[in-house]
Amino acid sequence: MQADDLAFDRRHIWHPYTSMTRPLPAYPVVAADGCELTLSNGLRLVDGMSSWWAAIHGYNHPVINQAMNEQIGRMSHVMFGGITHPPAVALCRRLVALTPAGLECVFLADSGSVAVEVAIKMALQYWQARGEPRRELLALRQGYHGDTFGAMSVCDPDNSMHSLYQGYLPPHRFVEAPRRRFDDTWLEGDDAPLATLLAAHHRTLASVILEPIVQGAVGMRFYHPEYLRRARALCDRYGILLIADEIATGFGRTGEWFACNRAGYSLCGQSLDRRRPVSRRHADPSPRGGYYQRERRRLFHARADVYGQSAGLRRRQRQPVAAGG
Ligand SMILES: Cc1ncc(COP(=O)(O)O)c(C=O)c1O
Repeated sequence: MQADDLAFDRRHIWHPYTSMTRPLPAYPVVAADGCELTLSNGLRLVDGMSSWWAAIHGYNHPVINQAMNEQIGRMSHVMFGGITHPPAVALCRRLVALTPAGLECVFLADSGSVAVEVAIKMALQYWQARGEPRRELLALRQGYHGDTFGAMSVCDPDNSMHSLYQGYLPPHRFVEAPRRRFDDTWLEGDDAPLATLLAAHHRTLASVILEPIVQGAVGMRFYHPEYLRRARALCDRYGILLIADEIATGFGRTGEWFACNRAGYSLCGQSLDRRRPVSRRHADPSPRGGYYQRERRRLFHARADVYGQSAGLRRRQRQPVAAGG
């Protein structure tokens, strides 16, 4: 990179998490391979955070590169509204096969934060579809779920951007983070704060949201899988949804395909269970009824009339250029 490029960068480009007027230094990277970044002066660095844990298979992976090259030659991008295409179907097929039993439907989002927004919207619509609108969520302290507004609203309220956006963020409930670490012996009662809050507020809560096993942004805080099991059981007991934010843990990052596998349950529990098809309150009187009717292949079928579309989650869906890797 030329000095001129760096000067332009410093003056005109606002990088994440730094000041525009007094920016932190930005290292000029000219190549990336495996776990290494090469700077313009030839220095090679190990990228220990793998691009905010996005480069899960390492940089410049030959299989991913080949799939991207092949795909881009045919079609780099089309919208997903009213259009589908073979790479998207292939990707979703693989996702359905890979994810724990009960997760059979895929909604593609273009970032972790947006995925969290979508999950929150799904939870809100679930309760609307049941004719019992609920807006409140319960999140763990020390959690991080992204930088869009819905996602910010469930990040740790003290150690995040809550204070900057006070008044804009919907108020939610927070419970203290699990104390027992991953390898500790389970301490009976570690889930007591969660149990207490759920007992008190389960009638108004739409969903619990958590990062399973690892609270990443707060400093890779690994907690005990038993906490996850208890959280699942508590949500089931009260008929509340559970959103497992696997942005940082999914696809093998903790050694299992999904961190929830460590707790031995499916991410979405029974709410998306094929044995309990749901969506219309009167279609399924079970506590979790209200999500989708598998027979009709309609997500949020009951509210189609209200939203004018079956999912009500209209947004620009982008697909990865390469889905075959
Ligand atoms: C647990 C978790 N959720 C959500 C996000 C937000 O993802 P993105 O940066 O792709 O918006 C992150 C990002 O690191 C994350 O670690």
